[in-house]
Amino acid sequence: MSQERSDTLVLFGATGDLAHKKIFPALYAMVAKGTLNEPVIGVAFDPWDLAKLQARARDGIVNALGSIDDKIFARLASLLRYVSGDYRAPATFEKLKTALGSAERPLHYLAVPPAMFEVVVQGLEQSGAAQGARLMVEKPFGHDLQSARWLNRVLHLVFDEKSIFRIDHYLGKEAIQNLLYFRFANSFLEPIWNRNYVESVQITMAEDFGVEGRGRFYDEVGCIRDVVENHLLNILLLLAMEPPVGRSADDLIDEKVQVLRAIRTLTRDDVVRGQFDGYLNEPGVAPNSPVETFAAVRFFVDTWRWQDVPFFIRAGKSLPVHATEVIVRLKRPPLDVFDPIKTGDCNHVRFRIDPQVAISIGARRKAPGDDMVGEQVELTALDDSKGDMPPYERLIGDAMNGNGQLFTRQDASELAWRIVGPVLGDTTPPPVYAPKTWGPAEAMAGFGPPNGWINPAK
Ligand code: BG6
Repeated sequence: MSQERSDTLVLFGATGDLAHKKIFPALYAMVAKGTLNEPVIGVAFDPWDLAKLQARARDGIVNALGSIDDKIFARLASLLRYVSGDYRAPATFEKLKTALGSAERPLHYLAVPPAMFEVVVQGLEQSGAAQGARLMVEKPFGHDLQSARWLNRVLHLVFDEKSIFRIDHYLGKEAIQNLLYFRFANSFLEPIWNRNYVESVQITMAEDFGVEGRGRFYDEVGCIRDVVENHLLNILLLLAMEPPVGRSADDLIDEKVQVLRAIRTLTRDDVVRGQFDGYLNEPGVAPNSPVETFAAVRFFVDTWRWQDVPFFIRAGKSLPVHATEVIVRLKRPPLDVFDPIKTGDCNHVRFRIDPQVAISIGARRKAPGDDMVGEQVELTALDDSKGDMPPYERLIGDAMNGNGQLFTRQDASELAWRIVGPVLGDTTPPPVYAPKTWGPAEAMAGFGPPNGWINPAK
């Protein structure tokens, strides 16, 4: 596959929730910036016409952005086409082929449940619409190692690896890009970024809402599959990886894969699960469901750099705040020369991922006054997020341009499932926690980084 830009975007699942909430607003932003001028063919089962799809797109954009510029929307609307039909029917793909016209390098974006990947890919092949094309697929990519391998085989029957773009939208976030940049564009971090100085790493993704009407989906997935195996593990990789040897997509992904290879496969002792009180009453959730809505997980990376440094990931629904944050905590100085330093205080690097973007260095300084007594401070570079490019805009643009750097490669997708495999599908009912608390307190007692968790502020 050459690096030539795709000449049409085909959006499977065009009438769905993701398209409404994220994809149309992203396409609108691209049109506004002049980075999308190609036709966009929506495909879905619903017997809609083009006007209805346009109205739905408009609604999604207004919801996401609060307002809309009619001229820009008119440009997007003029790029839209709609093909409706059953993904299992060859006629649907014949209609798509006709709509593609003289397009030579379409990008097919599968914003549909993974159970549909196989039929869509087969339909694309049989109709000739896969020729010269790229394929972008949404998460979840499989359910476990076996299903991910199977999915990879199915996709590879038709598309080669360089033409496949597996999305993890977290990798498209500005703050995640910044984390990578900050690590490798500064020299002061490198001497301390290892087991000699780093005591622990903790990554918290807290959401102060429940499953928001996605009970049916969530109950088949649970917290570990939903966000730990992908979004949060990806953050861990960026923190733990070695500098890439070059700038190509493979250079970066190769280093992430090295870390994945070095991460110990989890055991049940590495995990505390929890379920928020009230989850069982959510529509779509099975009676007595043992699915976790909270997980705290301990990882070890068996490399020279990281041996014995615990990496903790904690994520959950119905927690006290909505925030994602990383704390890299450094070891204390060997002696308290002045005042005794409180446990847990001292030096850290904090990466705030969501909702604001910030990087802070935690340090001690002398508090004003007579005594040599210190206080904890943070030096913070804060970003107001105004110029940030939303993840879907970045990722769709990259896939159209054939740039796979921010996507998950086959080996990475399978290694991640290998790591979490043994802790999936636990049928023991998890301990219940009260909404707006930091998970099941009793089960969490004694489980966490040395010197404790740091809860992100609002
Ligand atoms: C999705 C999960 O992948 O990421 C959701 O399925 C989660 O459960 C969401 O809420 C969080 O992403 P963001 O970017 O909205 O914070």
